Amino acid sequence: MTEPKKLFIKTYGCQMNVYDSERMAEALGGQGYVETKSADDADMILLNTCHIREKAAEKVYSELGRYKGLKAEKPDLKIGVAGCVAQAEGEEIMRRQPLVDLVVGPQSYHRLPELEAKARSGEKALDTDFPEEDKFDVLKNRPKAKRGPTAFLTVQEGCDKFCAFCVVPYTRGAEVSRPATRVLDEARDLVDRGVREITLLGQNVNAYHGEGPDGADWSLARLIWALNDIDGLERIRFTTSHPNDMDDDLIEAHGNCAKLMPYLHLPVQSGSDHILKRMNRSHTAESYIRLIERLRAARPDLLLSGDFIVGFPEESEADFQATLDLIEEVKYGYAYSFKYSTRPGTPAAERAQLPEDVKDERLQRLQSLITRQQREVQDSMVGKTVSVLFEKPGRFAGQMVGKSEYLHAVHVQSPDLTPGTLAKVHIDSSGANSLSGTVKAVL
Ligand code: SAH
Ligand code: SF4
Ligand code: F3S
Repeated sequence: MTEPKKLFIKTYGCQMNVYDSERMAEALGGQGYVETKSADDADMILLNTCHIREKAAEKVYSELGRYKGLKAEKPDLKIGVAGCVAQAEGEEIMRRQPLVDLVVGPQSYHRLPELEAKARSGEKALDTDFPEEDKFDVLKNRPKAKRGPTAFLTVQEGCDKFCAFCVVPYTRGAEVSRPATRVLDEARDLVDRGVREITLLGQNVNAYHGEGPDGADWSLARLIWALNDIDGLERIRFTTSHPNDMDDDLIEAHGNCAKLMPYLHLPVQSGSDHILKRMNRSHTAESYIRLIERLRAARPDLLLSGDFIVGFPEESEADFQATLDLIEEVKYGYAYSFKYSTRPGTPAAERAQLPEDVKDERLQRLQSLITRQQREVQDSMVGKTVSVLFEKPGRFAGQMVGKSEYLHAVHVQSPDLTPGTLAKVHIDSSGANSLSGTVKAVL
């Protein structure tokens, strides 16, 4: 028997890249590769990259530089770049970094086996097409390995919104939804392999409009209701949503779909209407607040998270203050904030930029507000009973860690619990980044 070849994948960026990395590992599994956790003993290194901000893209080149010695020692080592940097600047990568043998864009992963063979034969292999065939369809023959309790499932990809700062419409292409039957089949398969919580993924997941088994277009709400019927699946989440695609059925599902968790990531980016307009977001701060009111009317304990960009071109102190005011009003359980980063080819990159020190100072102010808010929301869980899906042992003996329905990490001292157990937990205390509690009942 020949030794299996070893594959090391390093994943950057969003959850969709995490999902894609699993699919790439499966595609190369068919070529005799098994995954390894160390680049040092790999026969193939794949970087699954992110292009969303300049720093994210630069990381790729510095990481590639580190493999120089390894490649010198091991001439058979193949190095590949996948993901959004590959899509955006594939040819430049090949030019700038001769170590790279293979470049593959996010829509071409099903072609990896051919690309790998080409790279093995000593040629450079590059594929950044947006092919006609469905990459998910070709990738569906996955090995039946046991899985952990939580999984991602991509249902929609690409984006037609063209926010003025964002590369996603260029790197991931136009919005495409997978047919509902495929999604449901994949969900059942995941459940058969031990998964109890599925997070549906899409760059604009709530714009989902896949073909249903009845031939009609299914909305995300309809898909969630069908998933709700799968025995053994206990929890459903979805991310990321755009405020404009939050329809009535989806708002209602938050109120009455038992398996849909009370957590919603709903980025607003800014609280200033002038900036929102310049960002091409096509919603206002007011319409966002009204939407949140409707969501909270349907599900009063809904925990919200958001994304914010500070220092977008033309952002005045008053615009920034409007963002802080919006955050105060919404009270986020989590929020992610970023300094605006110019992305080549996007409209806002051409505009006059704010000084770096202004961006830094605003980011700090915004993050201290968010940190305070996050902590308040987390602390407010103390004394409550939540449901926790346990995922793995904690750092200390006898400790187990899982996530509450609100996505807070929860620790308990309970050596008998196994990963995949769902339990009612009374929250006793709130620490820096997690809650601690006592198991009241196993569900
Ligand atoms: N599809 C999602 C988010 C995609 S990117 C949505 O519509 O909200 C994730 C986050 O990165 C964005 O929400 C935004 O806050 C941030 N982001 C995107 N482009 C950026 C840029 N050029 N500079 C700084 N942050 C950016
Ligand atoms: Fe980017 Fe806007 Fe599309 Fe989100 S909605 S992926 S921020 S263009
Ligand atoms: Fe990054 Fe591409 Fe995701 S740019 S955030 S990896 S869609």
